[in-house]
This record gives sequence, structure tokens and C-alpha cells, in this order.
Amino acid sequence: MDWPSKVISPDDLLWRARKALQSSYAPYSGFRVGSAILTTDDEIFIGCNVENAVLSLTICAERNAMTSLVQNATGKPVAIAVVCESGHECPPCGSCRQFLFEFNPDMLVVLESSGQISTKTLRDLLPSPFMTTPEGSFPE
Ligand code: THU
Repeated sequence: MDWPSKVISPDDLLWRARKALQSSYAPYSGFRVGSAILTTDDEIFIGCNVENAVLSLTICAERNAMTSLVQNATGKPVAIAVVCESGHECPPCGSCRQFLFEFNPDMLVVLESSGQISTKTLRDLLPSPFMTTPEGSFPE
């Protein structure tokens, strides 16, 4: 699996995700999540989970990072790191996989488990996404 940046490493991206986790607002679950997305222009966009008293309004860290990217980035997303504090891997939930797939099915997903880094593609994590148009003809 080829890493898409010469200047930002998987470790750098995980580090930014850990920093993002510090901003998590998770008073209901106590489960803090951080995420960082790398673009083709070597920019990084971060997000944390933000909960609400109306629990269904909670927004995941990955979707917060991606909405920031969509609003501000010049490049396309190529890798995302996701971290939590449990010591085990924190892969994106099903809704986030679907949400991220829209922007790059080949995005690399960087996870850590007790100091071990693993990298998968989003396509591996979501083999049968919902799509309204055939792949390759996403609106630009
Ligand atoms: N959460 C994320 O931030 N990302 C995911 O992919 C799954 C879950 C958050 C939502 C909620 O604030 C907490 O984790 C516990 O479910």
C-alpha cells in the first residue's frame, strides 16, 4: 500500500488525530474520538466527536473532519487517521464509512492499537456502499 505523502507520515497524521481528540465534547458517553484527514496538497483537517443532550444529534469525529475539509481544502482527501483512548482500534462507524466513501473510496484509513499502526482502504471497510450513480461518475 503506497503512502500518499512525502512530507506527512502515518505517525504524523495519528498525532494530529490525538490532538483533535483533546477537543472532544463527549459528556454523555465519555468516549472521546479524534480524527485527521490528509489531502493531496499535504493539508490536514481535523475533527472530534461532538455530542448533544439529544443523543441522535451527535456528530462523529470523522464527519466533522470531512465537513471541514469540504469547506476549506484545495486538495482531495487521501488518508484519514482515527483514534480513541480505549487501547484498541477505533475504525469509523458504518455511517462514517458511507459518508467518507463519497469523497474517495481509495482513501487510506490509519488506525492504532496499543501502539501498533494498521492501514486499510475505505473500500476494504465498506465493500458495498450505497450509490445513486455508478462509481467513477460521482459529481465533482
Ligand atoms: N463516534 C465517533 O466519533 N466516530 C465513530 O466512527 C463512531 C462513534 C463517537 C460518537 C459518540 O460521541 C461516541 O463516539 C460514542 O459512540
